[in-house]
Amino acid sequence: DRETLVLGIETSCDETAAALVRRYPDGRGEIVSNIVRSQIDEHRAFGGVVPELAARAHVVHLDAIVSRALGGAETELSKVDVIAATAGPGLIGGVLVGLTTGKALAAATGKPLVAVNHLEGHALTARLTDGVQFPYLMLLVSGGHSQIVLVKGVGDYERWGSTIDDALGEAFDKAAKLLGLGYPGGPEVEKAAQQGDAKRFNLPRPLLREKRLDFSFSGLKTALRLAAESVAPVTDTDIADLCASFQAAVTDIVAVRSRQALERFAAAYPDAAPTYVVAGGVAANRAIGGALREIAAQTGAHLVVPPAALCTDNGAMIAWAGAERFALGLTDGFDVAARPRWPL
Ligand code: KG4
Ligand code: ZN
Repeated sequence: DRETLVLGIETSCDETAAALVRRYPDGRGEIVSNIVRSQIDEHRAFGGVVPELAARAHVVHLDAIVSRALGGAETELSKVDVIAATAGPGLIGGVLVGLTTGKALAAATGKPLVAVNHLEGHALTARLTDGVQFPYLMLLVSGGHSQIVLVKGVGDYERWGSTIDDALGEAFDKAAKLLGLGYPGGPEVEKAAQQGDAKRFNLPRPLLREKRLDFSFSGLKTALRLAAESVAPVTDTDIADLCASFQAAVTDIVAVRSRQALERFAAAYPDAAPTYVVAGGVAANRAIGGALREIAAQTGAHLVVPPAALCTDNGAMIAWAGAERFALGLTDGFDVAARPRWPL
């Protein structure tokens, strides 16, 4: 084990990102640089990420983002030990841009390549930010994913639950669109909900009576639409109440599932102090965060929420996952494929 400097490249959705992360032999890590260019402005007019536009924007901007991450003259590519790039899951056009760039840099410099699963990047971030030890539970709630994953080790995961339809962030985005709010929808819904009455509309909590740890959010969207139609034409007060009711429903769902998962974790690992790591853009939601803190307090779990910039998509999480894999001798050949779907 020696000190390694890893360049990480992330292009699987609508963030063009690159970062340098150092890993020390004792397993600790440090972020040297972390550059993210969000494409929100390109996609706003469409109310969601347009895959073809995303891939083209990655092509246009990735080189400059990588050079900024490398720090220009300060830290040249020659000082980098490993090149890590997201190989999936994600929008295939974008993944191809980042992975091909990673392969090209590795080929040109002779440095090893690590093809990183984007979900593994989210899963391992808490080890970089908080030095979290295995095993732990991760709740990933983003625009593309909603999962509860048992993280047993690098490359060793058990998916305990996932969404059977929309991701939670996607549900927020669709709710916002339906109510005529802006994009991305999560922060807009949260803001409107602050003035609202969460008890006014009784929205469903799909799947919640079932024992399995899966999520379903698409029925909630339909219920929200029907509720909005029942009071049409909607006023600002109605919108606030609809948002508050929606947020209360999804908060309930996430809270109940989190409690179940933590109980299952405690049963599986009676001697380990349970750690619950939250990742993904929805982790920024204060109602959900508050509910998770309450459950952590009640179940004696240690709640870890990395800083927002590391919860959403970024290059540091890919560099760090690359560093952890490289430390175990895991590298990839140039024949490694970009994968639109790639469960942990
Ligand atoms: O992890 P992320 O930045 O990107 C990807 O999914 O790739 O997550 C973005 C998602 C969006 O759906 C956005 O609406 C949601 O996270 N989000 C929120 C909040 N902030 C962002 N959802 C609820 N409340 C928020 N405050
Ligand atoms: Zn992500």
